[in-house]
Amino acid sequence: MIDTQLPLTDLHRHLDGNIRPQTILELAKQHNIALPAYELEALCPHVQITKNEPSLVSFLQKLDWGVAVLADLDACHRVAYENVVDVVNAGIDYAELRFSPYYMAMKHQLPVEGVVEAIVDGVQSALQSHDVDIRLIGILSRTFGENACQQELNGLLKHQDKITALDLAGDELGFPGHLFQPHFNRARDTGWNITVHAGEAAGAESIWHAIKELGASRIGHGVKAIEDPRLMDYLAEHQIGIESCLTSNIQTSTINSLAEHPLKKFLEHGIIASLNTDDPAVEGIELKHEYTVAAPAAGLTPEQIRQTQINGLKMAFISQAERDALI
Ligand code: ADE
Ligand code: ZN
Repeated sequence: MIDTQLPLTDLHRHLDGNIRPQTILELAKQHNIALPAYELEALCPHVQITKNEPSLVSFLQKLDWGVAVLADLDACHRVAYENVVDVVNAGIDYAELRFSPYYMAMKHQLPVEGVVEAIVDGVQSALQSHDVDIRLIGILSRTFGENACQQELNGLLKHQDKITALDLAGDELGFPGHLFQPHFNRARDTGWNITVHAGEAAGAESIWHAIKELGASRIGHGVKAIEDPRLMDYLAEHQIGIESCLTSNIQTSTINSLAEHPLKKFLEHGIIASLNTDDPAVEGIELKHEYTVAAPAAGLTPEQIRQTQINGLKMAFISQAERDALI
């Protein structure tokens, strides 16, 4: 259950994986973009997960219709604004919204830097009328290779002070972390925090690379850490936070059932792990579902669920003073 006395956080939430199906319809109409269907009910199966996908890569294809309708920077601004409203409606007090400006820019050849600016502005304007705390995490989309990620990093660095952290997402098996070491060296020089999707499609070695070569202080998913006892010890000892996304892990076939999810073992091992959504609109869930349905199905006791909520606050990329202000 959610402890209403504690702040509720979502630290792993893709803004570009949370484009409302209704918004996809409206933007497609506005910009004359072809969709597989033009009624909400008929469109949903194309833009949301209806059955567990066989792989991370096929899961990620479900995000493509959302970014396909980003025909101009106003559309990016709208999506950012709506993401803040969705966070508020989900009862979340603090969210770190992550986005890949290259992925959002690609289809309609928008300027990457312009997309970053539109996202920053969209979030800012929503915050003027919504009482919630939001930080932005820039993503490098590994799926498009090292050169695209350099462009993506350049665009993000133009708005360096508006971005809290850098992430690496996309096809983990096809594009291992070590390819992006130069990018993350540059990112760390800016003082950004580092979180990396690792141990989702690939194994425990990918988590080691994320920590040792890219400098990650948090890991997205990290499911495969369970395969390496030495890594389990390291995560606990060095307080590397694990951003768990239970429903996503089922939908990407990272694991076969929630009963097999290692989150409970992570907590028992003293690893700081939190509950998060990943791509809520695509998954068809919200954070509450992860607390009230997914976490119990993963075998967490009410006390362990409360611990994940506390961990979310501990893991947040904010100062102690900002943390205190949230409580
Ligand atoms: N982008 C959006 N969701 C993702 C996930 N679960 N893994 C990697 N990249 C992503
Ligand atoms: Zn993710």
